[in-house]
Amino acid sequence: MPYANILTEILDGNLEITINRPEKLNAINKDTINELAKAFKKGEENDEVKVIILTGSGQKAFIAGADISEFAHFNIEQGKQLAGEGQKSLFDLVENLSTPVIAAINGFALGGGLELAMACHVRIASSNAKMGLPEVSLGVIPGYGGTQRLSQLAGKGKAMELILTAGMIDANEAHRIGLVNHVVEQEGLIEEARAMAKKMKKNSPMAMASAIRSVNAGFNNKVNGFDVEIDEFGKCFGTSDFKEGTTAFLEKRKAEFGLKK
Ligand code: COA
Repeated sequence: MPYANILTEILDGNLEITINRPEKLNAINKDTINELAKAFKKGEENDEVKVIILTGSGQKAFIAGADISEFAHFNIEQGKQLAGEGQKSLFDLVENLSTPVIAAINGFALGGGLELAMACHVRIASSNAKMGLPEVSLGVIPGYGGTQRLSQLAGKGKAMELILTAGMIDANEAHRIGLVNHVVEQEGLIEEARAMAKKMKKNSPMAMASAIRSVNAGFNNKVNGFDVEIDEFGKCFGTSDFKEGTTAFLEKRKAEFGLKK
């Protein structure tokens, strides 16, 4: 399906999604959020797609934030709805996707852009990337999960500092505080993401989905993460992937995993 604001391509088992509004530094408006949600869902449902890589078009920006022009005139109710619907339809969807998602941060990741990168399972940044949550400088706060996920990734003190100063940090500082997993030169960014995807693709899609659910459970205060892990661990024993993985090991051959369910 053609999209107006994003590009999608399946390459060697990776769904590569590129936000394509370079003239607006890939700021995400409502239509872009809807298209992204659709593309992520389709990727999850497609057995051919083993890993999803998200990046921005151009050399300058991953995503420079939510599109400020769209919400500048909103009232309290509309603001609440914007955050609530956005969190549910895209940011929580990505975080809980059963297919691994890698953010390849190729430039500015600000506001909603950093929030979307933080909802992805893994983040790789190019050395020119700049990250921040500048919302308080606009008289608002991060509303797509940023106050929560930044604290989870970098700790409460760093999250408070970044959010309250509305400042930007560079890729090396983001790496130092645990906000991104790796930093590489911009020319090598997509290759680095593909190399990580290649490692993931060797593994059981069903077990990776279980692992994602278990890790995420530790950040959900309505459930006990250890209990979820026990349950997910047990469920693995009923999957064809478990049979294939253990049999292949005992037969000293490479496991051939297939479907996601
Ligand atoms: N929403 C809407 N439009 C945005 C945007 C956003 N978050 N970020 C950038 N743009 C637009 C600019 O308005 C400009 O459009 P125009 O050419 O039609 O005027 C275009 O993208 C290029 O941005 P510009 O500001 O000219 O680039 P720059 O290199 O001078 O500055 C930034 C880059 C990222 C520092 C600057 O664009 C910026 O501060 N953006 C907003 C970041 C932000 O506050 N995000 C959080 C939103 S909640």
